[in-house]
Amino acid sequence: MSGAVYIRTFGCQMNAYDSGRMLDLLAESRGYAPVEDPAAADLIILNTCHVREKAEEKLFSELGRLKKLTAGRRVIFAVGGCVGQTEGRLIFKRAPYVDLVFGPQNYHRLPDFLTRLEQGESRLWDVDIPTEAKFDELPAVRSAGPIGSVTVQEGCDKFCTYCVVPFTRGREWSRSVERVVEEVEGLVRQGAVEIQLLGQNVNAYQSLDREGVVHDLALLIRRVALIDGVRRLRFITSHPADMNADLVEVFADVPQLAPYLHLPIQSGSDRILQAMGRGHTAAEYLAWVERLRAACPDLALASDFIVGFPGETEADFQDTLNLAERVGYDHAYSFKYSARPGTQAAQLPDPVPEPEIAARLARLQKVLERHQLAGNRRQVGRVEEVLVEGPSRPGSGELAGRDGTWRKVNFPGPESWIGTLVPVRIVEGMPNSLRGVPVVAP
Ligand code: SAH
Ligand code: SF4
Ligand code: F3S
Repeated sequence: MSGAVYIRTFGCQMNAYDSGRMLDLLAESRGYAPVEDPAAADLIILNTCHVREKAEEKLFSELGRLKKLTAGRRVIFAVGGCVGQTEGRLIFKRAPYVDLVFGPQNYHRLPDFLTRLEQGESRLWDVDIPTEAKFDELPAVRSAGPIGSVTVQEGCDKFCTYCVVPFTRGREWSRSVERVVEEVEGLVRQGAVEIQLLGQNVNAYQSLDREGVVHDLALLIRRVALIDGVRRLRFITSHPADMNADLVEVFADVPQLAPYLHLPIQSGSDRILQAMGRGHTAAEYLAWVERLRAACPDLALASDFIVGFPGETEADFQDTLNLAERVGYDHAYSFKYSARPGTQAAQLPDPVPEPEIAARLARLQKVLERHQLAGNRRQVGRVEEVLVEGPSRPGSGELAGRDGTWRKVNFPGPESWIGTLVPVRIVEGMPNSLRGVPVVAP
């Protein structure tokens, strides 16, 4: 069996990384070529997210759409990722034409799964969390763009009371320093300019190198920064309870480290933070923000928020608004609380009524958007290095890329600049992007 594979990815960057690795594996083991058009595919994989209700609904509506699109043809439908892991066999109930369900920790077995389907098995369900490291079973990364991602830490032991991730991705573990370095070197050889170190709580990274030296994330960053060709570095996502002094210092010490940190707070209320099981207070969080800004005055801060956690009062929510005002985030994601099956919070009394959740979310987003726009406008007049990812729109003569703070920048320039860092003067700050003019000639 070989042919064309279409993969659609939902959820976080780690899922995006996993999708890339699945394509590498299918190409190497089976000669599958990736296609952008599902109508041309023989194998359709949906790499799913289970973190909120909507994510799950998106899966089933996408499955339905794709089934229609490929009607009358034999296409293998596979569901991987975090819904695969937790919903398992239920998926076959809602979408009986699905051939294969697997999870985020066993996708290295895809070639084997396909063989079993060829041999006549159907509705194959395998969500084992194997003890062998999946990364050791995967081929080297084949396809990298200007931004190369490497999962360095996986899983989660934090068990925040609202969250399914510990159930979908399993326990916290870290890849070895040598494997990370090897993979980064491979990405740079293929043209990656920026390296993103990924983990569910990437600052929980902990591993020994061959000499027995303990590497936490800060030391790993210092090590990766030594690799020739790594021009920019970023790490995503950090947990406030896993912050440490060294991770503040790297922002001052490592020139390639981008001035950007995604440090989710979820709520500004200590009472709610405790009920969420986050393991820190709002004051502790603010103290880290202060230290980080002292070490790196240009640091762009991003966060996640959950609105309407069970028992959240207007006063709790005010604490969240106050914290958002006080920090003045450059970027933020905010979500309505969604009760997830199997989590502790799903058992809690005092749900916040849906209209109230919607109203609070809108109030919070107003504050977040105001700060984001102010931050974008503050960039005007500065010269930023922009890593060009591609044309902003085909044929527009405009390029799009990201600066060190992860702001999107559009500016005129030739396509030969794609994949390079270009110094750009920012001339306008809009709600979701910046406009600039290059300060070098093509
Ligand atoms: N490990 C990261 C985040 C992982 S999930 C951390 O702890 O910071 C990404 C985001 O989804 C979370 O930060 C949270 O804001 C949101 N999220 C997770 N579970 C949720 C739920 N049950 N309802 C609403 N939002 C949720
Ligand atoms: Fe989920 Fe909490 Fe783990 Fe983040 S730290 S993945 S929110 S359990
Ligand atoms: Fe979603 Fe799984 Fe990532 S639940 S957020 S895809 S770890």
